Amino acid sequence: MARAMWILVCTFAMHAFAASAKVVNHTFRVGNLTVQPLCEERVVVAVNGQLPGPTIRVNEGDTLVVLVINESPYNLTIHWHGIFQKLSGWADGPSYVTQCPILPGNNYTYRFNITKQEGTLWWHAHVSWLRATVYGALIIHPRAGRSYPFVKPHKEFPLILGEWWNANVVDVENEANLTGAAPNISDAYTINGRPGDLYPCANNNTYKITVTQGKTYMLRIINAALNNELFFKIAGHNLTVVGIDATYTEPYITDVVVVAPGQTTDVLLVANGPTGSYYIAARPYASAPILFDNTTTTAILHYNNSTSVAAPLMPVLPAFNDTPTAHRFYSNLTALRSWTHKVPLDVDEHMFITVGLGLEPCGVNATCAGPSGMRFAASMNNASFRLPTTLSMLQAHFSGVQGIFTDDFPDTPPLVFDYTNANASQLVSTTLKSTRVKRLAYNSTVEMVFQNTAILSVENHPIHLHGFNFFVLAQGFGNYDNATHRSMFNLVNPQLRNTIAVPVGGWAVVRFIANNPGVWLMHCHLDVHLSWGLSTAFVIDNGPTVSSTLPPPPLDLPRC
Ligand code: C2O
Repeated sequence: MARAMWILVCTFAMHAFAASAKVVNHTFRVGNLTVQPLCEERVVVAVNGQLPGPTIRVNEGDTLVVLVINESPYNLTIHWHGIFQKLSGWADGPSYVTQCPILPGNNYTYRFNITKQEGTLWWHAHVSWLRATVYGALIIHPRAGRSYPFVKPHKEFPLILGEWWNANVVDVENEANLTGAAPNISDAYTINGRPGDLYPCANNNTYKITVTQGKTYMLRIINAALNNELFFKIAGHNLTVVGIDATYTEPYITDVVVVAPGQTTDVLLVANGPTGSYYIAARPYASAPILFDNTTTTAILHYNNSTSVAAPLMPVLPAFNDTPTAHRFYSNLTALRSWTHKVPLDVDEHMFITVGLGLEPCGVNATCAGPSGMRFAASMNNASFRLPTTLSMLQAHFSGVQGIFTDDFPDTPPLVFDYTNANASQLVSTTLKSTRVKRLAYNSTVEMVFQNTAILSVENHPIHLHGFNFFVLAQGFGNYDNATHRSMFNLVNPQLRNTIAVPVGGWAVVRFIANNPGVWLMHCHLDVHLSWGLSTAFVIDNGPTVSSTLPPPPLDLPRC
């Protein structure tokens, strides 16, 4: 009864608030699909028989309701990457964080409002490595009567960059977990599910955009790859960035985009080249000296009045290790001035978080194939995160169940050392598993310095925070120094993101306001590092009012 009243009150309030807001309904049937991106047929898990899955379009202010029916052989959850989930934490999706997984044969309905964010986000599975094939675009248009803060494009195309394994990805992940070694690298990258002309057996497996000369198009670039940041370029054309992670940016003109897993980049493209065909291409920005899939995926930009039969023009992509190019792009973006949000100036919680790889003991009577006979681990402040297995953290928090997590995640690393010096780092290379989270009072302002370490090796890590955007105040290389680097902070129009690619061998400073009660995962969006424990979570307590209190869970929340 109380629950019904609560829903009634909320529904009424919503309607009174925004007459134009509507409810958008979708059904996701998740099951096996046979596909053939390269030379042989493979069976993968996909939504509604599509790869990528369905594109969801809403207007800002709408309510999205998605019934997920798990017809796959695996446990499943879906995460709505970048959605604020204000008071709807039960719909966020990460397995064992906000819900137990949907077991094969079961359903769960995700229901949430989408407010105060516009642009491109996406959705993906958030359990094991299933997101390799369970993903799609989530596009938030301005609400009725509002328009983009830039020329209305003639047409728009989501371009979802993916990563493909010929092997079953769950097997790849399980094998790595068993041996403690690095997982096998992928076999291809894809654009909208298709690898493109540069791969074997790519016949007709190339995504194509047809444009009319003189018109402006919007490309919504999403990096859904599992383990690789990607450079993106179109031969013969500049791009104007207008949005990232569903926030608006000052227009930024560039010939190359770099996008980390989890991030999105909206660009305008003017079809002003000589009529013809051009390759759209993406390949890794790989900042660590490790084995990676160094192949290139392509799509084609084709002018509709072109009669040329010549091969499409290929862009020259940056070298895989071109950190200066990546950093120039990542650090030059700023929020659109006319839209800019106020940066909170008073900080309640200062956190300094080391981010990087490490090793953990192999385990008694086990043999491991990781470095020094140990197993790879990854950590924040030397705590390597382990998900609970018997109850979700949000359920434990909501019902006061002890023993699922501990709220002792440290604000600083256990040891101060020369973080980006490889020699100093070898002294602190081992870590242990735990489920340590940081508890925050409602509405506190949190500043985090992410500091990459050279333990095993430096690397650019895309750190994603669920449930919030953060202001990116500054980024740099080497060790963060509060005395000198604080003066670099952009407190006027910093870029807003949900995923920050922390510079390789460097640092980034972000700030956010903890105004949403619940449990919010924060992790590296390279799935290989997520599996190794590069995450933690924030537990945000309720505030003093109904509008700052997490409602009870939906009745169909999956049970463990
Ligand atoms: Cu894209 Cu934890 O998510």
